[in-house]
Amino acid sequence: MRPKVLVVGSANMDLVVRAERIPGPGETVLGETFRQIAGGKGANQAVAAARLGADVYFLGRTGEDAFGETIREGLAREGIRPDCLLIDPKAPTGVALITVDLEGRNAITVAPGANANLSEHDVNAALDVLAGIAAIILQLEIPLPTVQHAVELANSVRVKVILNPAPFHHTDSLHTSLLERTDVLVPNEHEAAALLGAATAEGIVWEEAAARLLAKGPKAVIITLGAEGCVLADARGVRRLPARSVTAVDTTAAGDCFIGALAI
Ligand code: RIB
Repeated sequence: MRPKVLVVGSANMDLVVRAERIPGPGETVLGETFRQIAGGKGANQAVAAARLGADVYFLGRTGEDAFGETIREGLAREGIRPDCLLIDPKAPTGVALITVDLEGRNAITVAPGANANLSEHDVNAALDVLAGIAAIILQLEIPLPTVQHAVELANSVRVKVILNPAPFHHTDSLHTSLLERTDVLVPNEHEAAALLGAATAEGIVWEEAAARLLAKGPKAVIITLGAEGCVLADARGVRRLPARSVTAVDTTAAGDCFIGALAI
């Protein structure tokens, strides 16, 4: 039977420019190609899980506009259930401005739009879907109280919680109870550093970082490290798992694909 997965999160229209390099503050860089691609961490994770065979529900909000329509059509083509995909009459669809450099690295700025209106009430309205769910996946591109509420509900019906704390900066804060209610916490290196209160990821020993994050309450921690693979910490200890070697064309949403795969 196909595992049933619920993703609660963001859907954006990604406006992607390829350029030789990512501009610094105040700088203009002449780019190369432009593409408009449906994205958003939540929607990307939903698509990854669906392509790998899960029966996926996506709880999110788009605007009542052309970007929203394109996103909704795309999710439907991927076989994602439309039951909890909401249209916001008041806010535009979220947009992400993305620059990708020659090495496939990216810089992303998100205008959340309708994602910022995904509410606890929306989560309650999707309660029926929680029955029989194998895992719920969440990120932080929607309001934190909504994430917290969804996690509490998932805990109450013993659904596995996968939390991708993205985006997260060292000046942000997460309630300890959220980490304690999380089954699998999946930050990348920047988010892991920030969760530990560090301003940069430089010089961090990832095995130690994973163990320190595990001590904050989740049942397992996976820190994704791009080409360096990932570090997993759980009750059985801490170990590093290698990544397959690839030539990166565009790393945007690489972590989202990993998380979608993890859910099934
Ligand atoms: O993780 C990549 C995603 O982050 C992009 O699709 C963009 O929309 C932002 O949400």
